[in-house]
Order: sequence, then C-alpha cells, then structure tokens
Amino acid sequence: MLTVVTHPLVQHKLSLMRDVHTGVKEFRELAAEVSMLLAYEAMRDLELEPTRLQTPLQEGEFPMLSGKKLALVAILRAGLVMTDAIVNLVPAAKVGHIGLYRDPQTLQPVAYYNKLPADIADRRVFLTDPMLATGGSAAAAIASLKAAGAQSIKLMSILAAPEGVAAVKRDHPDVEIVVAAVDERLNDHGYIVPGLGDAGDRIYGTK
Ligand code: PRP
Ligand code: URA
Repeated sequence: MLTVVTHPLVQHKLSLMRDVHTGVKEFRELAAEVSMLLAYEAMRDLELEPTRLQTPLQEGEFPMLSGKKLALVAILRAGLVMTDAIVNLVPAAKVGHIGLYRDPQTLQPVAYYNKLPADIADRRVFLTDPMLATGGSAAAAIASLKAAGAQSIKLMSILAAPEGVAAVKRDHPDVEIVVAAVDERLNDHGYIVPGLGDAGDRIYGTK
C-alpha cells in the first residue's frame, strides 16, 4: 500500500526542500520536520491501551502506546536525518543502520554496513530513506531486514519516483510505503525529476 501525505504543511516544506536556493542548514531542518510529519501518518495504526494514572485532579484510564515495540532503521547516509528526528517522537524505539550507496554507473546498491537491534523480529520496523528512486536501495534494505527476522516493515521516504514505488511493491508487496510525494519520473542518471537533487549531499553539504 502506498500513502501520500498531502497535508499542506508537508507539501509546503517539501517545496522549500526542492528549491535550489535552500541551503544546507535549512534543508536539514526541513527534512527533519517533514520526517516527523510523515511519522505522524506512518504511525497512525500504533496500538493503544487504557492505562490507569492520576492527573492533578483525579484518577482515570487514559490511552498509552502498547503492542509491539518499535525500531527505526536508517539507510545511510540520508536516512539518518529522518531517524534522528523521528526518535524524538518515540524515544523508546531502538535505532538500526543499514549502509548502502548507489553505484553511479550501474545504479545498483552496494552494501557496506549493517547494525540492527538484536530483537528486530519482535519490533515494528520503520525504515527511512528520503529518496526512493529506482527502489534498489530500499528493496535491498528490506531484504536484509527480513533476513534478520523483521516481520512488520513500513518504508518512509520523503520523495519517490513511480519506478521506485513499483520496484518495492513488486519485491516486497507486504511493505507499506509512506511518502510526501511521487514525482514524474527518473532521469537517465537515476535522479528523481523534478525532485530535490542529491539528498545526502544537500543534508551534509558534500557538494
Ligand atoms: C541515495 C538515497 C537513497 C538512494 C536512492 O543514496 O539516499 O539511499 O540514493 O536511490 P535508489 O532508489 O535508486 O536506490 P546514495 O546512494 O546517494 O548514498 P548516500 O545517502 O550515502 O549519499
Ligand atoms: N538519490 C538522491 O539523493 N536523489 C535522487 O534524485 C535519486 C537518488
């Protein structure tokens, strides 16, 4: 299932991220803000249970998070900015990291790092990567999460190409995808058009 978060705040902030004149500091802050707003939607179905507590005025039962614990997993580098923001909303979540970069010639993902919570099989996993372009990186990351035992996975990306959405749906039909927008297409270099450029470079100022 694909969810596009059309909320005006998300769309406004995404447009600012697209703007070539937006600098590194603002881009990073916007990416963090959009990530938290995406998490609001991606975590809409978290379970609640009535919990007894005392307000300053009286005792009562009030909803608090229950059910499976959470794991946030970043695809390095750019997914880091997303998990760093989202963990503020769910501070009990554990955070994993999957290192992948896209070979510029073949556009195939190259794995270089993998560190996941040991009990990932028992957690709901939210995988983050701002860009879902060919979908190769996300599909490979999902495969390594499944190999580690993960059973419940949602992919959160800020921007997607139709090709990337189709690739993840084909390889991992069980994985829900939450994005802020799906753009027109990929260009010949595998960049999303109109897009926002290279997310990692714009977050970390490496270009
Ligand atoms: C970018 C982006 C995704 C990937 C998306 O990472 O952050 O991980 O490309 O492309 P795909 O859907 O075609 O696989 P990149 O390879 O540039 O690495 P970086 O984050 O380390 O810069
Ligand atoms: N990775 C990015 O950072 N941007 C794109 O448009 C495609 C892949």
